Amino acid sequence: MSDFLVRPAQALKGRLRVPGDKSMSHRAVMFASLAEGQSRISGFLPGEDTVATLNIFRQLGVQAEQQGDSLRIHGVGLHGLKGSGQPLDCGNSGTGMRLLAGLLAGQAFPSTLVGDASLMQRPMARIARPLQQMGAAIELGDADRPPITIQPVAALEGIEYTLPVASAQVKSAVLLAGLYARGETAVIEPRPTRDHTERMLQAFGCPVRVEGSRASLCAPDGLRAQDFTVPADVSSAAFWLVAASIIPGSDLWLEGVGVNPRRDGIIHLLRQMGADIEIHPRGEADAGEPVADLHVRHAPLQGIEVPQAWIANAIDEFPVWFVAAAFAEGESRLSGAEELRVKESDRLAVMARGLQAMGVELEEFEDGIRIAGGTSLQSATVDSAGDHRCAMAFAVAAMAASGGRVCDCDNVNTSYPGFVRQAQAVGATIEVQA
Ligand code: S3P
Repeated sequence: MSDFLVRPAQALKGRLRVPGDKSMSHRAVMFASLAEGQSRISGFLPGEDTVATLNIFRQLGVQAEQQGDSLRIHGVGLHGLKGSGQPLDCGNSGTGMRLLAGLLAGQAFPSTLVGDASLMQRPMARIARPLQQMGAAIELGDADRPPITIQPVAALEGIEYTLPVASAQVKSAVLLAGLYARGETAVIEPRPTRDHTERMLQAFGCPVRVEGSRASLCAPDGLRAQDFTVPADVSSAAFWLVAASIIPGSDLWLEGVGVNPRRDGIIHLLRQMGADIEIHPRGEADAGEPVADLHVRHAPLQGIEVPQAWIANAIDEFPVWFVAAAFAEGESRLSGAEELRVKESDRLAVMARGLQAMGVELEEFEDGIRIAGGTSLQSATVDSAGDHRCAMAFAVAAMAASGGRVCDCDNVNTSYPGFVRQAQAVGATIEVQA
């Protein structure tokens, strides 16, 4: 288990291309595997989460060559996967597990999905319920947690499902089961969530109809192989948007970042606080995703109350947004974000504990947090609880303050391999200690 020893940073300067988008990389592997023909994907995230998904498809009979961020996948067609007889290990990835559950529900072979200690604690009834309504034979472990066991069934039936929580993973699990269902499968979401599944399925030749908050599809004859580039991950760029905003003198360019309007909440939140972030659009990447270069310079921030409409668009960025709030003048508030308690860790509790240890005055609620910003942070030893995004958020807080130690940082490799190297490239000092 490694720790980050973080030294206070002077101004951060330079240009970075952060690794490929995690949500899109998972989906790229899945759809390319199920397509007819060979897909070439560049900008793939070679992180532990997405490589776990890739290895699962290899286990299911898909041939794939990966070199860094380049991926070539020989699709087997919608009905070409083969059962492996062994558990499928999703590692730390909720996205991998939940989307795969939907896809595997319609296969002619049984599957068992497992993961690491964090993933084995995460709630799965949210996907099992709608999939069972479609006729899937899915069973969960104790307290509706993994393992997920799936038995083949004669046929799945399309349903119209209204999501009880705003979750792109649940929406996607249902739509992916819909690739194998009779009739139309439709999902209605209470708030807009990331729509990479809809956009990318469309790019692979499966018509997806989107009308307001309803997305629907019918089982296609097949998917067509695609060559495309995955944009850089806005969730990884977020660490630098915050770091450069709060470290005086900073001036950073972040290249080729995915700025899908369902994912850009962090940019809006920071701008609302006074951040100096310019968006230089680069047009649309092949999978129908908008891409831009982001230019961020240090600026004084003010506390804000997070509008409810931005929560789903910024859901993965709250750990580092809490750091921005700690450095802002005045109070910031977040409510209605109880989903943060069931991510890779309980992110409200883990971030509250760590920021308090650094001297931040805050109050934690069941569904959010109040942070009194503007007091100077002290050096401390903080525990990331093995959560990649909390680890990187604490690293940003420490580099902007008087340094510190962040414990249990190995999982940074799930979403942002090269984080420490890129931090060094823009002028931060992080030592990794085993
Ligand atoms: C994701 C959806 C979100 C997000 C996760 C990735 C996806 O989860 O937190 O990191 O790729 O669909 P929920 O669907 O649980 O909100």
